[in-house]
Amino acid sequence: MQDEVQRVATLRKELEDANKQYYGLDQPRITDSEYDALLRELLDLEAQHPNWITPDSPTQRVGGEVAKQYTKVRHLDPLLSLDNAFAPDDLREFDRRVRQVEEFVDYVVELKIDGLTVALTYENGFMVRGATRGDGTVGEDITANVKTVGSIPLRLNELVAKLSVRGEGYMPKASFARLNQEREEEGQPAFANPRNAAAGSLRQLNSKITAQRKLDYFAYQVLAAKELGLHKQTEVLTFLQEQGFVVNPEYKVFTDIEDIINYCEGMASERHRFPYDIDGLVIKVNEFALQQELGFTAKSPRWAISYKFPAEQVETVVEDIIIRVGRTGVLTPTAVLKPASIAGSTVSRATLHNLDNIRDKDILIGDHVLLQKAGDVIPEVVRVLPEQRTGEERLFEMPDLCPECQSPVRQDEGEVAYRCHSITCPARQREGIIHFVSRDAMSIDGLGPAVIQQLLEAELIKDAADLYTLTFDNLTPVERMGKKSSENLLKAIQESKERGLAPLIFALGIRHTGEKSGKTLAQAFGSMDKLLSTTLEELQAIPDVGPIMAESLLEFFALESTERFLAKLRNAGVNMTAGTTTKPQIFAGQSIVVTGSLEHWERREIETIIEEYGGKSASSVSKKTAFVVAGDKAGSKFVKAQGLGVPILTEEEFEQLLKEKSASI
Ligand code: IVH
Repeated sequence: MQDEVQRVATLRKELEDANKQYYGLDQPRITDSEYDALLRELLDLEAQHPNWITPDSPTQRVGGEVAKQYTKVRHLDPLLSLDNAFAPDDLREFDRRVRQVEEFVDYVVELKIDGLTVALTYENGFMVRGATRGDGTVGEDITANVKTVGSIPLRLNELVAKLSVRGEGYMPKASFARLNQEREEEGQPAFANPRNAAAGSLRQLNSKITAQRKLDYFAYQVLAAKELGLHKQTEVLTFLQEQGFVVNPEYKVFTDIEDIINYCEGMASERHRFPYDIDGLVIKVNEFALQQELGFTAKSPRWAISYKFPAEQVETVVEDIIIRVGRTGVLTPTAVLKPASIAGSTVSRATLHNLDNIRDKDILIGDHVLLQKAGDVIPEVVRVLPEQRTGEERLFEMPDLCPECQSPVRQDEGEVAYRCHSITCPARQREGIIHFVSRDAMSIDGLGPAVIQQLLEAELIKDAADLYTLTFDNLTPVERMGKKSSENLLKAIQESKERGLAPLIFALGIRHTGEKSGKTLAQAFGSMDKLLSTTLEELQAIPDVGPIMAESLLEFFALESTERFLAKLRNAGVNMTAGTTTKPQIFAGQSIVVTGSLEHWERREIETIIEEYGGKSASSVSKKTAFVVAGDKAGSKFVKAQGLGVPILTEEEFEQLLKEKSASI
């Protein structure tokens, strides 16, 4: 019992540290799978002892609460908006008014994050509420969702009796791009930009979905700052950081408005370098005493102003609308544009998502349109310029037949997407192979879309399983495949056989089954055979497997084409079990801790080795730890292992052990 109590505390600490490293600027020190394993262990322990669950336990971040609707909450202080400055003179005017009250001014200039305000309330150090802005006076209680945002502390580092924090919830560009790609593949409407995606995700009724969306948060304001002994905005930012919040590190202090103007103009051209969208800068008077003297207008403070970047939009022409057929058969209309330069690159294609979007925006082939980049990455047609129409424009119609395989195209009930349902469609085959070899799937390096296309055209492969039959002589005639790259590719193909069950399930490209589901299923079943013979009940009993995914899996496994495809993979020697069976399981059942900096291995490498040989790579030392591998500068784990009498091995000793044990099997 005492052991378990201790273990719970250790797990919580490890998980929170990992969270902080992930969201802060540090490099995460544990792998995703290690994080998942720790979280699972903690969930298990808490399930056995429900009264041990605390409001700040990392398990409270996984979501699960499903609300019917949101409760309204009244904000302690109304959330005001800011006046906007669009030109240097607006900033000079703002400065002039401030200096009427005080000649010597410090300003803090912060990035204006393009997300949505989230107000957080802490009581006795614990987060008790998260709310949206709403109309500024009354917002919505989104506490369950806010808790899933890893960078929002569930407990403050110090015991502050009451604290109200405000900041911006946002979706990083990379998460936005990934989310939209997934949605498109699933035939769901894409989000227009990261702000909408963040808002939609935070207002989800099912917090589990929010948890998957990878949102983030920058804190920038506390209420009643003076009562906490804080007298300046810069002190607030430091205080917030000390309490465990992530504060945007880009803020700067200025005394001269001309310097601020230069800074703003410089930032306007640098705005794309950040991994999140910014739509301007916020200029704030630093001293609270002066802020108070300046006061407020009816809707905004007189001590702050936002400088808005000019929207980056360019005019171009939709020369054609073509169809792309994706891996799941969704037909995506894509605009072929007159090449236009925007936000640092030349754009000649833009997805139009689906027919509804084309009709809503009234886009015709030949139209002049305004183009921008959503989330700074995805080119998007904002609107048509109807005044430029000549009468030559043409209406776009969705084809009745798939442009790649001529099978009939259908729009399923309740879906916006049109699909090609033929599983032999070459486009679906090609996209399926591209997916199969991708990084999180079978991870075959050196096999880009162009090579795949050539292999298909030369009929050297028909599906991904045929990759395993390729020979050196097959590859060298392929364009741009020299001797060395052919050798490397064959090696990568061979190596991919040992990727294991989880990536393989993901690689199959089953609808509604992503990378994470691959891991869940691999863990639950352990082998492809077991998974193939599963039932609806069995699937639904697994947490994280919903009815839609379960149906989709069963449908996929019932297909004859699936059976044939898997048989080919099996014959090729692709490993279809959770672990790799080829390595002797010499560390089976052992928990091994690696600590300190290693010379011969990357941390991830040695952990993989431990797992491949059947061991569990753990992050904390306990009596149950089989042994510790300690590199240079090993710290507390080393000391703890010594104290508990757990054997400590050097890297060399570990290598030796690996050799000896493997040889004796
Ligand atoms: S300060 C009293 N600082 O911009 C106003 N706002 O119109 C306090 N925003 O709704 C706002 N980054 O959601 C402030 N560093 C920042 C910000 C920021 C983004 C948003 C905020 C607000 C809007 C202002």
